[in-house]
Amino acid sequence: MSESYDIGLGNYDVSTRKSAESDYVGFWENQAKNLHWSSIWEKTLDWNPPFAKWFVGGKLNASYNALDVHQKEKSDKPAILWEGENGDSRILTYREMLIEVQKFANVLKSLNVKKGDRVTIYLPMIPELPISMLACSRIGATHTVVFSGFSATSIRDRIDDSKSKVVITADGGYRRGSIVKLKEVVDEAIQDFDFVKNVIVFERTKTKIAINEKDKLWNDLMNNASDICEPEPLDSLHPLYILYTSGTTGKPKGVLHGTGGYLTHLYSTFKWAFDIKDSDVFFCTADIGWVTGHSYVVYAPLLHGATEVMYEGAPDFPDASRMWNLIQKYKVTIFYTTPTALRMFMKFGDDMPNSFDLSSIRLLGTVGEPINPEVWKWYYKIIGKEKCPIIDTWWQTETGGMLISPLPGLETIPLKPGSGTRPIPGLLISVVDENGIELPANTKGFLVIKNPWPGMLLTLWGDDEKYKNVYWSKYPNCYYAGDYAIKDEDGYFWLLGRADDVLKIAGHRIGTAELESCIVSHDDIAESAVCGIPDEVKGEVIIVFAVLKENVEKNPDVLEKELISKIRTDIGSIATPKQIYFVSKLPKTRSGKIMRRLLKAIANNEHIGDVSTLEDGAAVTEIQTAFEELGKSIKEK
Ligand code: WTA
Repeated sequence: MSESYDIGLGNYDVSTRKSAESDYVGFWENQAKNLHWSSIWEKTLDWNPPFAKWFVGGKLNASYNALDVHQKEKSDKPAILWEGENGDSRILTYREMLIEVQKFANVLKSLNVKKGDRVTIYLPMIPELPISMLACSRIGATHTVVFSGFSATSIRDRIDDSKSKVVITADGGYRRGSIVKLKEVVDEAIQDFDFVKNVIVFERTKTKIAINEKDKLWNDLMNNASDICEPEPLDSLHPLYILYTSGTTGKPKGVLHGTGGYLTHLYSTFKWAFDIKDSDVFFCTADIGWVTGHSYVVYAPLLHGATEVMYEGAPDFPDASRMWNLIQKYKVTIFYTTPTALRMFMKFGDDMPNSFDLSSIRLLGTVGEPINPEVWKWYYKIIGKEKCPIIDTWWQTETGGMLISPLPGLETIPLKPGSGTRPIPGLLISVVDENGIELPANTKGFLVIKNPWPGMLLTLWGDDEKYKNVYWSKYPNCYYAGDYAIKDEDGYFWLLGRADDVLKIAGHRIGTAELESCIVSHDDIAESAVCGIPDEVKGEVIIVFAVLKENVEKNPDVLEKELISKIRTDIGSIATPKQIYFVSKLPKTRSGKIMRRLLKAIANNEHIGDVSTLEDGAAVTEIQTAFEELGKSIKEK
């Protein structure tokens, strides 16, 4: 079907896959033994679909497995090589990390944070972010990290939903040369919340901030804290964190991850996908505010006692060579980034990366969106110098860790540009049609997972019913991923983007419903429909159609500005639309539902298909005209 690349590390461990195929439960049981447990489980899997309990009765602690276990042999090894956007740098060894985490765990205890309490973390990419997360896990508090690009309204909704007792933030963080004032956002977000008892503020930028009654400075608290805090033995199913992610309906959902299964999944996938060795320097560019950062910046590398680079700011600041500079400076051996970042770097030509010494790199990874074959080849040739496998990892916030990926740490198989290759061992993945019937090779359908895996979400925070409906109701006893896929004649998977109303803008998940409800909450807007159109760099960009209320006579330019600012305030700048169109009506079915399929088809210049259920054909013409104009204005630019 397509060209393939025979590149690997010469690992041929056939037995791992074999044993996983014959008994996936026993297989994962063996994998779990790689972690340190204070009590061993009584039952490996209690599967009461769709609720999976892994390692029932087992007890462990995430921070213990990330830090304490390395103290004998690696206490002086750097855990984090940190670089700030403004050039500041810090190195934290495993010993120093453990001291900081124990001190901060004691700080949390002194503020009455107890096992099971939730703590919201809204920090830039600084070492205090993983330190806060690990301190929570040490005492059994459930962390909920909010990406530092989200607005006050977004963070308020998340604090409210999780009922966090404490919020951890910074005076600000550096982004593209400016200071993002995080503390101000938190002040606005928690105004009406009596249940938030304290705000801990780390002074990153030393900008002037208001100190309110609930506020405490990080350094003041740490100065008095003891550096000994015994890790709490926690049930395997103890909630490690909640991470909010956009879905197809309403507000973001709180994806809840446990401890034992999640960490087992991360330990194994990190080893298989990245073939991690003691000498490696790992660099994942994801922000910890997203799942990739939780799993493959914080937990997986630390479980392995690896050294990693952590970078604070924008990848193209002060210019697009920043990543190549970091790789050269820290002698990075494994680099894990997104197709959006790669497309951006590609635009600057080959001379820029070619002028750096990238010879330390031995593995390259990608995640978050489909990677175009031409971008894959550029990554392979220009960055990897045709000697590094490209590890295209498919997974989701809900899956906890990678589910489809080349695994050079385990086996050498030919790579095909644009395919994530095969599922990880122990996993049954299929491509099915609308009725759940398995499709023949090379046919596009829906991706489903047929058995539980240890990293899978426990549920949606406080909403078991929604958990069942969103993921397990389309097909009986199958997890519905919401992605289109093809399985080719060699059993390789090709992920083709979302099949539902979730957009992927620069790799970030944005729900159309969430955006539409924000737009219609503007006083002048009656109705709205949002869709994504392909973009050369970001993968997709947002197009908004809005119908004005009767008698609104505002200048469209003014209204457009108001809407953009509303979206930025309610959600965050990542949801800023590329274009807003004011139309007189939206294409709807006779029963009043917006025909998104139609919008998508028009947006992608595809055949619009059967429109017999359409209420009013004029709406389609209007939208088509709008897109033609858009096409023209893009060309003119
Ligand atoms: C998409 C990110 C193609 C997919 C880890 C999925 C990908 C969604 C890939 C989850 C990939 C992620 N190839 N598509 N390698 N990785 N996706 O929750 O649509 O932010 O459903 O997790 O990203 O996004 P999320």
